[in-house]
Amino acid sequence: MGLNTEKIRQDFPILQKKVNNKPIIYFDNACMTLRPIQVIDKIREYYTDYPACGERSLHKLGRRVDEEIGKAKETLKKFINAKNASELILTKNTTEGLNLVANAFPFKPGDVVLGTDKEHNSNLLPWQRIAPKGVVYDYVESGDDGFSLENFKQKLNKKVRLVAMVMTSNMDGSSIPVKEVVKIAHDNGSLVLLDAAQAVPHHEVDVRKLDADFLAFSGHKMMGPTGTGILYGKEHSLGLLSPYIVGGGTVIDSTHTTAKYEEAPHKFEAGLQHYAGLIGLGEAANYIMRVGRDNIEKHETTLNKFVTDSLAGMVDVIGPKDAGKRSGIFSFNAGSTDPHEIAMMLDQMENICLRSGAHCVHSWFNAHNLRGSVRASFYLYNTQEECQKFAETLKMALKIVK
Ligand SMILES: Cc1ncc(COP(=O)(O)O)c(C=O)c1O
Repeated sequence: MGLNTEKIRQDFPILQKKVNNKPIIYFDNACMTLRPIQVIDKIREYYTDYPACGERSLHKLGRRVDEEIGKAKETLKKFINAKNASELILTKNTTEGLNLVANAFPFKPGDVVLGTDKEHNSNLLPWQRIAPKGVVYDYVESGDDGFSLENFKQKLNKKVRLVAMVMTSNMDGSSIPVKEVVKIAHDNGSLVLLDAAQAVPHHEVDVRKLDADFLAFSGHKMMGPTGTGILYGKEHSLGLLSPYIVGGGTVIDSTHTTAKYEEAPHKFEAGLQHYAGLIGLGEAANYIMRVGRDNIEKHETTLNKFVTDSLAGMVDVIGPKDAGKRSGIFSFNAGSTDPHEIAMMLDQMENICLRSGAHCVHSWFNAHNLRGSVRASFYLYNTQEECQKFAETLKMALKIVK
């Protein structure tokens, strides 16, 4: 069963509105997705019906919050097929999850962290920042087809303590062969942290099948509220991490000089939490599971193929030539035209929301002597008509700037 895009679109208030008498064509989904009314209503429910704190207060409202956050974590557990809800830590985004591991993992001087040449700054800078501890960062050259297992194997050695890789690139949409990567890393004795910001919202992700040690993702890239994310860790892997940000809710007891910490996830969830966010995120996960990620993935790939064919020979696409290997991301340059100029023109002409620049993957663009690219990223509510409009408007814009 495929997607019923027409029905899905009715759930998104912004898609019912017009700006300057034209609908919004939203292609900035890799940055942040739109939210359906179900998620918006769930957040409103928290603020109107039980706007209290969780895991502390024994009154009715506090108990209702506990009930709702428990349900949300159970849903998210199911969403990635974790073994226990206690393996999920609420964060404010992917970035926070990655920083938590970087700062709380028991690295020794000389340990190597291995990434790719296409890491988002959020999975690059945290490793650069721990260089003073003697941790060395290295990366695998991806090559033209998205990822090279050969290059990966060549970079692996016994010093590689952690393989920390982007699962699906926000720059070109290509994915690493994640099962093989995890298996090879484990055979080498390395643990694996996956930056799943662009994977979890779009493809089926089963942490147990993948055997990932840690995996981070953001709620706002999967129709959840802003400022929400999850760091998943296997029970044993989370046990390796020391508390990072500490405070209320992280301890069983404390004296003026000592503290006895809780187990995960509590020891990592310091202070009052974003309850409305977590509850809304659970609703977003439910929405995605109802639609089905296989359907979402197929739909995005179809749109990407359509756009790639429509603009063949007119733009230089970043990433694998085969659109089927770029999921829902179409990242391109048009000769020497400034990517920002293209994005602004399309916004002005037809309300087409694109992203332009280095997409926080400056390292890759610098290594390739490029200023950046224009990126259209698709999601379940986008249509072929919107893609057609995009291709036609882009052709017009390129004629104007030439
Ligand atoms: C691959 C990837 N990793 C990490 C991030 C950072 O996500 P956030 O800003 O939600 O922390 C992004 C955001 O675009 C991303 O695409």
